[in-house]
Amino acid sequence: MTDDIERVRERLETAERLAVLTGAGVSAESGVPTFRGPDGLWRKYRAEDLATPEAFARDPRLVWEWYDWRRGLVSQCHPNPAHTALAALERRGPGFTLVTQNVDGLHALAGSRDPVEMHGNLWKVRCTACHRVGDDRRVPIPIPPRCDACGGLLRPHIVWFGESLEADVLERAFRAFAYCDVALIVGTSGRVQPAASLAGVAKQAGAFVVEVNPDPAPPDGRVDVTLAGKAGELMPRLVPA
Ligand code: OAD
Repeated sequence: MTDDIERVRERLETAERLAVLTGAGVSAESGVPTFRGPDGLWRKYRAEDLATPEAFARDPRLVWEWYDWRRGLVSQCHPNPAHTALAALERRGPGFTLVTQNVDGLHALAGSRDPVEMHGNLWKVRCTACHRVGDDRRVPIPIPPRCDACGGLLRPHIVWFGESLEADVLERAFRAFAYCDVALIVGTSGRVQPAASLAGVAKQAGAFVVEVNPDPAPPDGRVDVTLAGKAGELMPRLVPA
């Protein structure tokens, strides 16, 4: 493992274009629950009841209660050393793109400047009537929340199952992985598309691909080095302060 860490550290130091994909695992040590682990959210709740446009149309109050609970939980959480190390990596120079599937906003709190949030953000709301997107950090949020501009029903600005990702978000994410020379895949089970394709896109483009995960995916030829461990412990070793 120490040799692998040294190898990856050297690659990170010499990389000209670096692309990072993070998933729920990067926030696990901050206390944010993952989706598919033993205590994962999708073990306790049915995504069909809470994270689909149909669920929201059927029962917006129930959906908002769940998101309000998650907002309350995340409001108590702080960035961990993995978030901090990724922000430090970005500060080393240009040619860095951070793509996250997380909606918790912890990367930005740690100092990452412009993370590509593929699945939206818990702290943003969108009007179902006038489609305006705005910040809303109220905890608890009045349920159901209403748009200041038009009085329409607000929804979480989150990409739900069955919904498309925003075109510019997709474009930024795929471009970063298609043109990087090193790709880091941190704390994701790789079960949700299109994020799950990004490692393969980087590999096909000839990049050196590294996975950081205590329970990594079985080898499939897309990853050059697997670092089996927690992001909060390994990332600071890869990016010494
Ligand atoms: P998952 O819950 O599917 O996977 C979390 C991954 O993090 C697993 O592979 C764990 O082994 C790993 N992990 C756990 N603790 C870790 C740690 N301390 N350090 C590093 N890795 C750790 O979460 P995602 O892959 O992010 O989408 O899930 C993708 C999407 O599925 C989410 O964005 C969400 C969900 O449905 C939406 O809500 C739209």
